[in-house]
Amino acid sequence: MGMIPQDIIREVLERADIVSTVSAYISLKRAGRNYKALCPFHTEKTPSFVVNPDKQIFHCFGCGEGGNAITFVMKQEHLDFPDAIRRMAERASIVIPERETGDPKIRDLKQALGHVNELAAQFFHQYLMTSRDEATKQARDYLKKRAVSLEIVEKFRLGFAPDQWDGLLDFLRKKDISPSLMEKAGLIIAREKQDGHYDRFRNRIMFPIFDIKGQCIAFGARAMKKDDAAKYINSPETEIYVKGQHLYGLHMAKPAVSQEDRVIVVEGYMDFIMPYQAGVLSIAASLGTALTVEQIRLIRRYTKNIVMLYDTDKAGEAATLRSLDMLIEEGMNVQVATLTEGDDPDSFVCKFGGAALLEQVQKAQNLFDYKLTLLKQQFDSRSVEGRARICAEMLPTINKFENAIVKSEYMKQLAQTLSISQEALIAEMQKLVAHSRGEAREPAPQRGLLKEQPRKVEQNILKLMLEDENFVSLTKEEIPLSDFRDASIRTIISEIYKLFEDGKEINPLNLMNCFDDQHVRSIIAGLTVHEEVGVVDKNKVYRDCVDRMIQDRRKSQRQELLIKIRSAEVTGNHAVLEQLKEQYNQLVKNKG
Ligand code: GTP
Ligand code: MN
Repeated sequence: MGMIPQDIIREVLERADIVSTVSAYISLKRAGRNYKALCPFHTEKTPSFVVNPDKQIFHCFGCGEGGNAITFVMKQEHLDFPDAIRRMAERASIVIPERETGDPKIRDLKQALGHVNELAAQFFHQYLMTSRDEATKQARDYLKKRAVSLEIVEKFRLGFAPDQWDGLLDFLRKKDISPSLMEKAGLIIAREKQDGHYDRFRNRIMFPIFDIKGQCIAFGARAMKKDDAAKYINSPETEIYVKGQHLYGLHMAKPAVSQEDRVIVVEGYMDFIMPYQAGVLSIAASLGTALTVEQIRLIRRYTKNIVMLYDTDKAGEAATLRSLDMLIEEGMNVQVATLTEGDDPDSFVCKFGGAALLEQVQKAQNLFDYKLTLLKQQFDSRSVEGRARICAEMLPTINKFENAIVKSEYMKQLAQTLSISQEALIAEMQKLVAHSRGEAREPAPQRGLLKEQPRKVEQNILKLMLEDENFVSLTKEEIPLSDFRDASIRTIISEIYKLFEDGKEINPLNLMNCFDDQHVRSIIAGLTVHEEVGVVDKNKVYRDCVDRMIQDRRKSQRQELLIKIRSAEVTGNHAVLEQLKEQYNQLVKNKG
């Protein structure tokens, strides 16, 4: 399926009335100018879900969910933006024309790659199930030894890549698949010194990786013997498979995840498979170390509640810690479960069963406790320095929470745990906040809506970029991306650069189409509702914005240094102190 033409999107948007859209799912009661209902996105006894027909939006005062007709359909049906538009078009009997936009070559290639991967999955699975050769018998024995049931083998279409150089190659050739396509799918590799190709996956257990719709897009291949050079070999990235954008097993787990309103995230294939087989159905594997933003956003379509269940080893801990701040930033509720030392979910389930695993999940710590426990193991909380280090690590995490009550509760807990005064902690936090914002006062965050709005100056630059392409190239040259403090703005701007480089038209609708994330879309939408920036002299407005960005950067550099200087003073590190002071003087001299 290709891109949806802009005019169709516009038509769907114009015709989608919020009241009738929502009414298709839940019954609304009139309340003055508005409508009310029990919120479909969280459990409640009294209605706090409000639909406002004048503004064409919904908002739940209980859980904070909100948006327009499209975001409602996306949430309700767990669809991404294009699929929600398709669904709504269908209902409004708007026909999406066959003539599809987007590069037809890429579109066809993607389709073809999906097809080849499906065929390959079929081949590997058939081979595992039916072949009588010795290697395949070993593969079946291997799976038996690891206690994988036949039902699971079939459900997740596990397979076996024969111990041959051209098993798959031959099979696909007979299906009229060209070697060049097989190679693009990452299934075969070109020989170096002579013509021809050979199978990438040989003598391995095959785990097909599926996208959220259940289409096979890549493979993970496990060696059966310990002495094999690589335990796992993966498909390379292709037109349809980008590492870190999918979660293994989520296509099967999604109904349970929605229903239980929680997902357990594990690391590996087997860590997914064995618990799933033991009845732990709301689970998915990140396949690799830390979670990526894309993975978090995919999960967020189904639930906001994550329990991290990584291996109980140093690598697992590090990966969990790396994921935490991002999870909070993306508005997820995170807990961390741990297992007995040295176990992973797979081995734990094999020893103790699925119910025991769920018990561990029930006992999961909130991430504050989890991170603090780890830090206390790492630093000596009896020494002043140790406590300062622990605070320095904890404060940025606490600061990521949006909710002021949660924040202050954690501050209180941290002060108590470390026996330090709350005032001192608050002072440290204020420094941190000043530093991360670079200015003393910010416009108050918008009430009701989920996230803090980005700085005005960043919004204005973005707005100008959307109004006039000259500002796109100027910004690219003059302002490093890292100077934008708001993560969503940075994402949007990188996307604009991409569109710009591809010579595509840059308009708000086009841009919105690039994002699944509701928060990002609402920022773009927000820019388009305000009237145009300084009609008189856009260049002047732009120059002012750039100056402001530069000043802010200098200011935050100064503040960063000041904080370092203070902590060097506290710890009495004179050599570092002198160096820092020198840096500070330089910075001020170069005009700050
Ligand atoms: P088993 O060892 O069979 O229990 O597999 P596992 O899935 O539990 O693997 P493990 O916990 O060791 O690693 C977690 C995940 O990291 C795996 O599922 C793979 O996605 C990835 N991984 C592990 N080892 C390798 C490797 O050698 N190469 C690559 N590319 N990925 C690996
Ligand atoms: Mn394992």
